[in-house]
Amino acid sequence: MQTNSKIFLGTAFTATSISEVSILKDHLFLINEDGVIDQILSPEEEVYPSIIQENEGKDHFFRLAPGQYILPGFIDLHIHAPQWAQSGTALDLPLNEWLHNYTFPLEAKYEDIDFAKEVYEDLVTTLLNNGTTTGLYFATIHKEASYLLAEICAQKGQRGLVGKIVADDVEQNPDYYRDHTTEQALHDTEEFITRVQELAKTTKQGVYPVVTPRFIPSCTDEALEGLGRLAAKYDTHIQSHCSESDWEHNYVKERFQKNDTFALNDFGLLGSKSVMAHCNHLEDEDVRLFAQTKTAIAHCPLSNAYFANGVLPTKRFLEQGVDIGLGTDISAGASPSLYDNAKQAVVSSRMLEDGVDISISQDKRGVKESRITINEAFYLATAGGGESLQLPIGRLENNYAWDIQVIDTNVVNNKLPVFNQEEALEDIFQKIMYLVKPANIKQVWVQGEQVK
Ligand code: GUN
Ligand code: FE
Repeated sequence: MQTNSKIFLGTAFTATSISEVSILKDHLFLINEDGVIDQILSPEEEVYPSIIQENEGKDHFFRLAPGQYILPGFIDLHIHAPQWAQSGTALDLPLNEWLHNYTFPLEAKYEDIDFAKEVYEDLVTTLLNNGTTTGLYFATIHKEASYLLAEICAQKGQRGLVGKIVADDVEQNPDYYRDHTTEQALHDTEEFITRVQELAKTTKQGVYPVVTPRFIPSCTDEALEGLGRLAAKYDTHIQSHCSESDWEHNYVKERFQKNDTFALNDFGLLGSKSVMAHCNHLEDEDVRLFAQTKTAIAHCPLSNAYFANGVLPTKRFLEQGVDIGLGTDISAGASPSLYDNAKQAVVSSRMLEDGVDISISQDKRGVKESRITINEAFYLATAGGGESLQLPIGRLENNYAWDIQVIDTNVVNNKLPVFNQEEALEDIFQKIMYLVKPANIKQVWVQGEQVK
């Protein structure tokens, strides 16, 4: 055994394709000292009994108890960290009013580093407790508080991808919360990128700087162009909002005579390390450009229900070859749990398929074959998120990071209805996806280190 390598024995679930969940019953997982899966062995393998015999009882050997199961850690592709402080507030307002009356005043407070510390520590802990092992975060315009968020992810062992927001347009941003010159915004972004890339070297799991124009309306052309250049220069991830609401979609059309997708592409902001939130209003040619450029979508089903009044045609976009993962969109989505968002992704897709027309006439119903299954929602929360970020995470396979959650179906305050360990494992999997609460998430590991 290498020092600090580990062995886990238990039953695990992992997505092997968009719709297939593979069940690894009583498998051995050999994790190397870098926190990466070295080997996965089924009970049929010849060496299986001897590995157990040689290692059982030692500190590096972890046998799951009956009723416990391993799932890959979840990957949250869209979180506004500062908005955690207002989660559950003002969800009835239109997006633009919500931004100006609640969100911008709150985000402006992150100039205060002590306030930032209190909220960000609580958020990262909460997300880990909900099984989220990787988070793609928007911070605020403040470079110090944004860096602090990356540091907190580094300290708590979460794989954090963090962006200092750029918002420099004089008309679309209030004076009290805006990058005051484009030059300063780009300078601060560059400094932020290099500092986070240095910080990353001190972590096992990695933290990453992300180029983050808030959305097209909040940025000048010069800022968008400069950010495209910085992303290319430092080979960073990129994130923004794209075609979220009617208002925003139409604003961009008026300003550029094209959709967000083509405007973002003109500025060098699409590509294999780009993740765009929402994308509800993509047209066919936009979807083709997403697939061609390997740009991913952060699907935020709870937020879409509140603010976008829309349903992402998830199934159709997946079939058209676009990478999609799930996002909570805290706080436009009020829940920190990707379990809640996986369930909502299923529900929303069913509403899209069945329509909301209550008349008797069948021909006015929704869009055929739109529904996704809970297995497909699980794919989005795990493997789909990993593909979207181009990182080896979200699957239990060789050479993937050991980022996992251990689910206990037997906890006293939220026992899941699993009474018979002979029950079909695919049924137990679905009960887990629908009924888990943080109390059931007994352990969380990131890159081979225990973080809960
Ligand atoms: N568009 C621009 N900023 C935001 C934000 O903070 N949340 C959501 N949902 N949409 C946005
Ligand atoms: Fe958002």
